Amino acid sequence: MLARIMGKSRPRVYVTRTLPGAALETLRARADADVWQGEEPPPRAELASALQTADGLVCLLTDVIDAELLADAPRLRVVSTMAVGYDNIDVDAATRLGVAVANTPGVLTETTADFAFALLLSAARRLPEGERTVREGLWTTWSPAFLLGRDIHGATLGIVGLGAIGRAVARRARGFGMDVLYHSRGRNAEAEEELGCRPADFDALLSSSDFVSVHLPLTPETRHMFDDDAFARMKPTAIFVNTARGPVVDEAALLRALATKRIAGAAIDVAEVEPMAKFDPLLRLPNLLVTPHIASASVATRSRMAEMAVEHALQAMAGERPSHCVNTQVFDA
Ligand code: GLV
Repeated sequence: MLARIMGKSRPRVYVTRTLPGAALETLRARADADVWQGEEPPPRAELASALQTADGLVCLLTDVIDAELLADAPRLRVVSTMAVGYDNIDVDAATRLGVAVANTPGVLTETTADFAFALLLSAARRLPEGERTVREGLWTTWSPAFLLGRDIHGATLGIVGLGAIGRAVARRARGFGMDVLYHSRGRNAEAEEELGCRPADFDALLSSSDFVSVHLPLTPETRHMFDDDAFARMKPTAIFVNTARGPVVDEAALLRALATKRIAGAAIDVAEVEPMAKFDPLLRLPNLLVTPHIASASVATRSRMAEMAVEHALQAMAGERPSHCVNTQVFDA
């Protein structure tokens, strides 16, 4: 009986996947946590049923939290996602319903920038092809013109989206002796000063860059920003890097650009539809390097992201504004 009474006073949180690190312990100390145990996202019906009674939701970027689900979540106070991007959540609907939406910016900035750079370096110097060559027993000799790649030092990097991750990539580029252009919503005098990067309009950045790296959120304005026209403006020697969101790119246009060698290569950690199907035509192209959305996947960063997501949920359920809230208006009243 006592347990039931105590249990009743504790908020109830649905968590859409088991989390790394100590986050779940932290959550269980202060709330009743119902954790989906599957490796795949919970089916929509499961999520809908959980939201009937949940005070809080801790979710991932693979969970689509739309207006219909939110409308049928009578107790819900918070949707706390373990990601910086929140394009999977209908924030307007949440705001109308007074539900806070929290995300995890900052903590993954450097880890994601490291990975964007890893993709850039690997594609430029043809690491995956080199590795395959050795494993397939095709390393027969040292040869002057074998697997020639592109130099990174002295090359021009175009950064599209100069938020925290874009700036962290610019910092790395500087260390590698690159010339850095950026295209962003506005000028960033501080970054220009500190990182020596120069502003460019989108078309000029595309036509002058040896590498183009995307660091934009997915919004209606950025959806399919990289289309046939954008790829046509890039140098035929250019390498395109995407660690942001797949739908920022029209993948059919990317396929055409790579297949016709309109651009030299691409290295992507995100896809228009995730997970990518095994028989996706992009995967037949040798000038595509692809990874399964792992740019923030370091042990320390993923644990920290999980802790933050839990902390944000607990804050909101206690009536406080989460440390990172994307719809602060909910707390204005
Ligand atoms: C990962 O893609 C994130 O948005 O955190």
